[in-house]
Amino acid sequence: VSAKATGPFVPAKEDYQNVYNEIARLLVEKDNYDDGSYGPVLVRLAWHASGTYDKETGTGGSNGATMRFAPESDHGANAGLKYARDFLEPVKEKFPWISYGDLWTLAGVVAIQEMQGPAIPWRPGRQDRDVSACTPDGRLPDASKDQKHIRAIFGRMGFDDREMVALCGAHSLGRAHTDRSGYDGPWDFSPTVFTNEFFRLLVDEKWGWKKWNGPAQYTDNTTKTLMMLPTDLALVKDKEFKKHVERYAKDSGVFFQEFSDAYVKLLELGVPFTTEERFVFKSSE
Ligand code: HEM
Repeated sequence: VSAKATGPFVPAKEDYQNVYNEIARLLVEKDNYDDGSYGPVLVRLAWHASGTYDKETGTGGSNGATMRFAPESDHGANAGLKYARDFLEPVKEKFPWISYGDLWTLAGVVAIQEMQGPAIPWRPGRQDRDVSACTPDGRLPDASKDQKHIRAIFGRMGFDDREMVALCGAHSLGRAHTDRSGYDGPWDFSPTVFTNEFFRLLVDEKWGWKKWNGPAQYTDNTTKTLMMLPTDLALVKDKEFKKHVERYAKDSGVFFQEFSDAYVKLLELGVPFTTEERFVFKSSE
């Protein structure tokens, strides 16, 4: 710890690496959850904390961590993210100097790296805000919609087509839960390993409507155990999106690099940084 004898504590890279290590340790320790990891739900927490950003008004984004409060915590899109927030509470207790916004986004970085994804350069600077900074409902994407909706939502955050497709590749991780979104199942066979499988399956597999009473979703013809959301299929129905799906399906290295760039940008939307320098954290062995 690099605190000077007199001044206030100013955390340095090693202090954030210690937070990283603690989150990574807890990911291993608390493996009795879903497919064996809190990693996917941490990635989703970092995304939903950040994806409320509106470039016109400069409101939303990970600065503020306003999902701690109702009404934002109760927005339909955020159902189930309490598991992720609660998972991180002991980390906040151990490192009380870190803001929730920095903690949640750093946890998204840890989760990607520990699930064998690309390095995600990260910098601190988020400050917690109060309930008055909560964003209105409806800023996050609705999975029942099409490409027009995807472009409207991600365009509002300032992303282009290529970045939108890259970001959606995070659906290589985790699963949908009937008691959260209403949808059900994982996107691929390795939901706790970050890969380009989401794109490969979109290209190689045949997808048909799942026959069930739940919301309209797709299932794979071969095993009928995997799923795609209507917005996922929109990525191959739209010609411009599909170009990128095919690039990522073919070349995992290109996907990893372009995902990392877009995820860095996502986690930084609307944050008033005072430092240019980003940290690249060491992953666990
Ligand atoms: C899960 C929708 C983009 C990361 C989900 C779920 C839905 C959804 C409905 C299931 C939630 C549940 O029932 O637990 C969408 C839509 C998107 C989108 C409509 C855009 C059109 C993204 C992006 C990321 C992301 C950009 C991250 C960069 C995840 C992860 C999960 C997930 C990791 C799994 C969570 C878990 O296992 O608990 N998404 N998503 N999604 N999403 Fe997305």
